[in-house]
Amino acid sequence: MNAEIFAELKKLSTRAYAPYSHFQVAVIIRDKNGKQVRGVNVENASYGLTSCAERNAVFSFVANGLEKPAELFLYTETKGFIAPCGACRQVLMEFDPDLPIIMMNRAGDEKRVLISELVPLPFGPKDLEDTR
Ligand code: THU
Repeated sequence: MNAEIFAELKKLSTRAYAPYSHFQVAVIIRDKNGKQVRGVNVENASYGLTSCAERNAVFSFVANGLEKPAELFLYTETKGFIAPCGACRQVLMEFDPDLPIIMMNRAGDEKRVLISELVPLPFGPKDLEDTR
């Protein structure tokens, strides 16, 4: 178990704004130089405007000018693991299909998958060139 990142994620998850679902999600994305950004889910009284922790972290990653994402840690206070939702999978695929997603549960267990394993028939930037 990566104790340092686990402690950081656990603390970060308490910052999630989730008054409706009470389901707090924390994400840390690191680049190859070890620089990192964070994301938590942010809900809204207009429920459909909720923004997931993964996408919030990706947007922060871009805004902070980090190198390509090298690994993404995803934490929830759950018994099992949760994987990114469909919308976040699509957004994460944009940068690197080989991006490792490290899911962590409340016990600190880890499960590692590549984002491409979660998106079997992807739509991506290359498809936009196919009409030329
Ligand atoms: N949520 C995330 O932030 N990431 C996921 O991977 C799954 C779901 C959030 C959205 C919402 O605020 C709450 O969890 C319940 O769906």
